[in-house]
Amino acid sequence: MKKYLYFYNYAPNEQAICEMEFKQLFHEKMISKYYLTHQCFDYTRSVFIKGRLDIIKSSNDFDEIIQYIKDKKMCYYEFKVIYLKNEITHVEYQESLEKCRQIAFPIDGSVNIQNPEIIFAITKLKDIWYFGIYHNQTNWNEYYEKPYSYSHSLNIRDARTLVNIAVGHDLSLKVVDPCCGIGTVVLEALSMGIDIKGFDINREVSYQARMNLEHFGYQGEIIQKQDMRFLKEHYDVVILDIPYGVYSPFTHQQQIDLLKGAVSLAPVITLVSHIDMNEDLIKLGYRIIDQATIQKGNFLRYMTKAIQQ
Ligand SMILES: C[S@@+](CC[C@H](N)C(=O)[O-])C[C@H]1O[C@@H](n2cnc3c(N)ncnc32)[C@H](O)[C@@H]1O
Repeated sequence: MKKYLYFYNYAPNEQAICEMEFKQLFHEKMISKYYLTHQCFDYTRSVFIKGRLDIIKSSNDFDEIIQYIKDKKMCYYEFKVIYLKNEITHVEYQESLEKCRQIAFPIDGSVNIQNPEIIFAITKLKDIWYFGIYHNQTNWNEYYEKPYSYSHSLNIRDARTLVNIAVGHDLSLKVVDPCCGIGTVVLEALSMGIDIKGFDINREVSYQARMNLEHFGYQGEIIQKQDMRFLKEHYDVVILDIPYGVYSPFTHQQQIDLLKGAVSLAPVITLVSHIDMNEDLIKLGYRIIDQATIQKGNFLRYMTKAIQQ
């Protein structure tokens, strides 16, 4: 039996990037917003996962689930039962309420609708009913109020997604963000327990990035003022949010120089750019693994993952 059911949600302009993240995390193609799997994944890492149902019992016969609860003599205090709507199988509102009531009835203990300690959930996908414990706490927006931010920073959703695309499920990888700006990506990676270093050539920006880190209890020295082209250390993955030349002049040749610098840093790159740089990456010996774009107003960004051949 598949043990976990993940509920995805994304804005229409985020679908491609969500699918790219999914592929890097689970190594398969995303086919629906409801993902049944054996893999227990920290769903709070992805901004697209609304919640995870840890399945206790599934069956095409609802009464079998009720019987299971009775047989197990389930007893929980301060619980509630909810119905999880989905876009695949519609269950009428009244019926969904009735199913919740039927589930709650044989569970011993006490109900707490306002502040439950445990949330049981039921849903129906195609012909199958799924019953389990639902987790939907998100903590990924805890870095929203940074002391310093600036106009060309990535937003938290994109930064978090970028980190997931860069490392996949392997949180032990050593990561570098060599053009880290005020440290948005670095903070998100640190929140997932990833070993990451950040660099920025700009004195003021790198100082502000260190202040941001310290504000959230991390060591400021994780970020240093340095020109990335002269970094010597080696990492597993480089996340490069390349200067766009939108707010201040930055030529294509300067961007290529930064890409050249990235080659010696790590065998894998996750690049954010405002133009398609696939040809440049290929000339530098990379193979493109995956790519998606995010359109925000008039602003288009490419996220590209590539590996050195
Ligand atoms: C697009 S911004 C990065 C924004 C960052 N991801 C954030 O969310 O704050 C690019 C950054 O690259 C830095 N930069 C430009 N050339 C650099 C170099 N040679 N070495 C290190 N940093 C550089 C700029 O100072 C700028 O802060």
